[in-house]
Amino acid sequence: MSNVKPAVFTPEYRIQFDNSSLIQAIAGKSLAHPPVWLMRQAGRYLPEYQEIRSHFPDFMSLCRSPDATTELALQPLRRFEFDAAIVFSDILTIADSLEMGLRFVPGEGPVLRNPITTPKQIERLPFDTCIERLDYVFTAVRHLRAALGQRLPIIGFSGSPWTQACYMLSGYGEKNFTTAKKFAYTHPVAMTSLLERLAALTASYLYQQYLAGADVLFVIDTWGGLLADTHFSLYSGAMLQRICDHLLEMQCPAPIMFFSKGLTVSRLSPLAKIPNLCIVGLDWCADLPAMHQHFPSLTFQGNLDPAILHAGPVTTQQHTRDLLESLVDHKRYISGLGHGILPETPADSVHALVDTVRSQSSTRR
Ligand code: CP3
Repeated sequence: MSNVKPAVFTPEYRIQFDNSSLIQAIAGKSLAHPPVWLMRQAGRYLPEYQEIRSHFPDFMSLCRSPDATTELALQPLRRFEFDAAIVFSDILTIADSLEMGLRFVPGEGPVLRNPITTPKQIERLPFDTCIERLDYVFTAVRHLRAALGQRLPIIGFSGSPWTQACYMLSGYGEKNFTTAKKFAYTHPVAMTSLLERLAALTASYLYQQYLAGADVLFVIDTWGGLLADTHFSLYSGAMLQRICDHLLEMQCPAPIMFFSKGLTVSRLSPLAKIPNLCIVGLDWCADLPAMHQHFPSLTFQGNLDPAILHAGPVTTQQHTRDLLESLVDHKRYISGLGHGILPETPADSVHALVDTVRSQSSTRR
């Protein structure tokens, strides 16, 4: 395993460690308490999100308004004082830029009017011009940076190639994405070709977010856990490696964060060698202490079951405390959930999580 994570800490890197507990966590510094950042910390569980959302006829027009995306990214920071911001956008912006007819249907989630059904269609997708159509995302990052100054690091993100392909092939949030998996088993060459193109595009997309002001670049592989080990290695792992390689070739010093459901020590082993991979998000099934033990140079994030927050602040406090107590120390850990926060989550539970992390842990260094 490589202990070399040099890119993050070069002098020209824009965030000084002293300013940010998240960056300090990546550097392996000893902290009084871990930083807190939640996946999907902006969104429907906040009434102030619902208010802004009600002014937009559809979700993508919200994503295209820099005033709205800036405000939505700031809302959870005001309420909970999280330790990082995430640009307000979605993992399906790339599918949208490939003109696949994306719509968010109320009650149904994302639907693509033109999903990929044959290998030939992949050749016809407008990969060469789509980055221009994603300019609104880079604008959203620039506006957020202007609003935040250097106060907090900004996380830029993209879906992983496989997770994007799930929607592109199934056409909607299909349970188990069987249509996408069938395509992978039927057309492995075309599948690899699609994922390789998406990996190159994802790297450029993330790089542009870095140039616009993002400090950490997050590859979200939500549906990696649906893959058998061999396919995970080919379709999730190898594509993450490509994205990270491309970013290093472009001399991008930003640390990379990766989340995949169902990560295990054996799935992560080959990925831990990637020099710019610094943070790994874990779902609630992962064994966090074992991960820390096996991968001492990685920083882990998450691991709490988002459903705990539904049981209220007292239960949230107990589970948050138990998790922190299971750790040897508070190095290389970012408190958070094992997946995105659920829309019905009570805000009081989020407060309980944040307060628990910031209070009881200071005795354990
Ligand atoms: O604070 C943040 O993280 C907000 C930015 C963000 C959104 N989506 C906003 C959003 C991020 C990082 C995402 C990631 C995302 N989007 C993922 C990966 C993370 C995960 O939870 O697995 C996935 C799979 C999607 C795809 C997606 N976007 C779905 C399935 C839906 C509809 C249902 C749902 O789960 O929300 C969306 C729409 C969406 N993206 C909303 C928000 C706030 C709700 C849209 C609305 O208000 O109408």
